[in-house]
Amino acid sequence: MNKVLILNFGSQFSQLIARRVRESGVYCELKPSSLSYKELLDFNPSAIILSGGPSSVYEANAPSLDPKVLEMGLPILGICYGAQLLAHMLGGTVVPADTLKSREYGYTVTDFDNSSPLFDAIGNQSVVWMSHGDSVKALPSGFKVTASSAGCPYAGFENTDKKIYAVQFHPEVCHTEKGMQILGNFLHKICGFDSSWTMGNYKDIAITNIREKVGDKKALLALSGGVDSSVAAALMSQAIGKNLTCVFVDHGLLRKNEGDEVENIFKNYPVNFVRVNAQKLFLDALKGVSEPEKKRKIIGETFIRVFEAEAKKIGKVDFLVQGTIYPDVIESGMGSNAAVIKSHHNVGGLPDHVDFKEIIEPLRLLFKDEVRSLGTELGLPSALVNRQPFPGPGLAIRIIGDITEDKLAILREADFIFRTELENAKVENASQYFAVLTDTRSVGVMGDSRTYDCMVALRSVCTSDFMTATITHIPYPVLEKVSSRIVNEIRGVNRVVYDITAKPPATVEWE
Ligand code: XMP
Repeated sequence: MNKVLILNFGSQFSQLIARRVRESGVYCELKPSSLSYKELLDFNPSAIILSGGPSSVYEANAPSLDPKVLEMGLPILGICYGAQLLAHMLGGTVVPADTLKSREYGYTVTDFDNSSPLFDAIGNQSVVWMSHGDSVKALPSGFKVTASSAGCPYAGFENTDKKIYAVQFHPEVCHTEKGMQILGNFLHKICGFDSSWTMGNYKDIAITNIREKVGDKKALLALSGGVDSSVAAALMSQAIGKNLTCVFVDHGLLRKNEGDEVENIFKNYPVNFVRVNAQKLFLDALKGVSEPEKKRKIIGETFIRVFEAEAKKIGKVDFLVQGTIYPDVIESGMGSNAAVIKSHHNVGGLPDHVDFKEIIEPLRLLFKDEVRSLGTELGLPSALVNRQPFPGPGLAIRIIGDITEDKLAILREADFIFRTELENAKVENASQYFAVLTDTRSVGVMGDSRTYDCMVALRSVCTSDFMTATITHIPYPVLEKVSSRIVNEIRGVNRVVYDITAKPPATVEWE
């Protein structure tokens, strides 16, 4: 299998490069630029991409590359800082930002030489996304310029004999009109890679590897009903069948019908499925608790206790399965396996100290969209595979103040109505949408009577990474219908508001 190594020099877009390469059907991994030459050889890449980054090549301790890498004969693509580093290492000149009249940020019209294989068939002018201070001022010998903009005469350069290509702009961001085509040209035309990285292929390889590793031993998986743990469960189930036990702890803080939906899907799988109905335990532990972080802590701890008790009942289990995915691995610094295992808990905090020989993370190299398409390959229903994220502590952090059965019942219904109406109306740009039960009560009038009831808030955001989010522009008639249904159908609610705050300054969840 062809493998692209992306060396991360610290750009905010590095993860995006990896996603784009995978979208082109080519396998890649993102590694820190500090990777040693030996580690690089061990990885055995078929091509290398150097990411952008915030440094300047002439700074003391600027991140660099072992010069031997440039002698390996592999196709190399340098992006932004990666391009400057190539120019610098190969004898060109890079000038610092402060010697230039202006830096170049944002949309930039750029001219391309279409005789370059990198820019083949993309047209001779289009818009790219620039974001750089330093610039290449003189090319290394043997290189020719292949792209230029008004402020950047060397926006692209290459040496086809050495298979080294460089771009000052960012082909990986969607603002670069022909970005996907440029990356595709590098991967397919220059490197000659096919598009064989598909989830169908991955599924077969992963199942073989899991079988080899687990043999006839037993594995345990904490199933939350979220996308990651469900896909991990389906994959493990196809690999080891009855030697897998999935423990699904129903903490009573799930959305309407959610517990039964999860059970209905997994009880038909050839695995041991254990549903632990621990609703009372969780509600008792949460009684009278209003402080959000305290709620989270109690839920995490209670979860661990329940999970441990189940693990003991099952007996000797060698492997613990976790649904860690690639962004979790990247975000935790791409450190060693041991560090990652400790910092990642998918279901409200898994026990570190339970006596497992090994942890299996069958999704640890996949992005979320790949996890979803693997789920589809494995036959999971679309409603499960495409579900929106749901926090581990569940509805507990969507009820402001203390949690009671009555409040949970109100919130479940309001949330169900909102989600149903939004889905029926096919509202766009709704990445995560839910209801919140506030602790505000207000006066209303129903029939001829005064009411003094609860206020429900609706929240819907558009985001791809959940780090920043904008609000969904829900049409007023849809909001009116949701509001009318909630106050008419749910006793105890007489007011509905829509949260119109972006993240930042607000967060997605209210707690
Ligand atoms: P915030 O509220 O921080 O949420 O903007 C960002 C995303 O993370 C989810 N979230 C959680 N997920 N345990 C989880 O598993 C939690 O305690 C938790 N808090 C927030 C949230 O739903 C959103 O998708």
